[in-house]
Amino acid sequence: MTQPPLRRGSHDLPVSRTLAEFMRTGWADTEQADLPADPVVPYTRARRELLHAQFAGHRLVVPAGGDLRRSNDTDFRFRPHSSYTWLTADQSSDGVLVFAPDGAATLFLRPRSDRKDDEFYRDRRYGELWNGRRRTLLESARRCGIPTRHITELEHELRAPAATLVLRDVDPRVDRLVPPNDSGADAEFAAALDELRLVKDDWEVAQLEQAVAATTRGFEDVVRALPQARGTSERYLEGVFWTRARVEGNDVGYHSIVAAGAHAATLHWTSNDGPVRDGDLLLLDAGVETRTLYTADITRVLPISGHFTPLQRDLYELCRRANDVALACLRPGAPFRAFHRAAMAVLAQGLEDLGVLPCSAAEALDEEFGVHRRWTLCGSGHMLGLDVHDCAAAPANRYLDGVLRSGHVLTVEPGLYFQPDDELIPAELRGMGFRIEEDILITSDGYRVLSADLPRTAADVEAWMHRVAA
Ligand code: GLY
Ligand code: MN
Ligand code: MN
Repeated sequence: MTQPPLRRGSHDLPVSRTLAEFMRTGWADTEQADLPADPVVPYTRARRELLHAQFAGHRLVVPAGGDLRRSNDTDFRFRPHSSYTWLTADQSSDGVLVFAPDGAATLFLRPRSDRKDDEFYRDRRYGELWNGRRRTLLESARRCGIPTRHITELEHELRAPAATLVLRDVDPRVDRLVPPNDSGADAEFAAALDELRLVKDDWEVAQLEQAVAATTRGFEDVVRALPQARGTSERYLEGVFWTRARVEGNDVGYHSIVAAGAHAATLHWTSNDGPVRDGDLLLLDAGVETRTLYTADITRVLPISGHFTPLQRDLYELCRRANDVALACLRPGAPFRAFHRAAMAVLAQGLEDLGVLPCSAAEALDEEFGVHRRWTLCGSGHMLGLDVHDCAAAPANRYLDGVLRSGHVLTVEPGLYFQPDDELIPAELRGMGFRIEEDILITSDGYRVLSADLPRTAADVEAWMHRVAA
């Protein structure tokens, strides 16, 4: 990999030789010689050993990914690939983890700009005076507990012959360096990585607990802000939640879904530009992502006025019962799909009772038929961790068609969605959406609701809103 040209803007002023030489002089040594190892290092080492054991004799390449352009010369905030961070504890852009066939790991990194050339003050993407100081190679080696080399040495390393597996579609430069083979081996490697991430270690569970606790505080902030938000847009409340994430030094794991009124019937409503009106419901689906990149994914439905109408309450409680029944299916060894089926049985019966099904609930639940899905739309949960939809590439027999295991973390989120233009349902149902979404840890003998500090029943939601607003 040759050194890329400096990334400069067209309106940057030329630099005289005198200025260039002057800029390179007079800088203190800022090497952080006492940077401690990241506390996750014993875990990342164990994870790398597990991965190597599955692919001994292969060179393994796991990139972090690079910056993505947002507009013109500005990039999205960088967020590394989850598997890269899971294996290294590093979060810097352009990094590439390489296992030699004997399992020895090296991190190829783009270190801080030294002061020997123009990069540090002239490169808008990598220049230290533009975007901040990156770690030196030595600092990263100390912090991550992995030997480091400069990213410019990666090309030479990968040219040496070895059976190589690459986590693809993360860094196009790495994809180009190792031509794909058509054996499907890279896809199997990606699947194995996601499979390894399914069971969370103790450190990960602690991170997820912190993400959920921070999310709970964010939900409370939104409830507190509801009176001022009335008459404004959903973005006000999105900002309130994001403020909680930011004041605690965190981010969100996905764009918050702040869906008032009929927007709640759109599964991933993230435009968040609709009005916040008394009498409507607010579906808030949001998750704080910790600095270690673990995210919560929680949904609550809140009556903006503080009180559900009788119809809103009935539909909310139907979803809550579906959620209760789904939770009761969770234990190690239970099929992953069981909780969804159980929730659908409750919702289909509820839809039959509402008189909207064109058949009986039992007929609807026949997989060949499935017409209740017009109003339930999607699955009832997914794995959760570094990614909000975690481990999606894991083999089906270990995830969707597999069984729950102690250490799995997942969401349970059956919902009901009534589109505003649905002519097959009574007018009073149109334009409402309901989902309660819990974050769950499977334990050795059952499960623990990580999101249990947020209320579940309609009565508890109202009491909580009253308490928080007081
Ligand atoms: N927030 C997306 C989901 O609930 O899956
Ligand atoms: Mn979810
Ligand atoms: Mn969600």
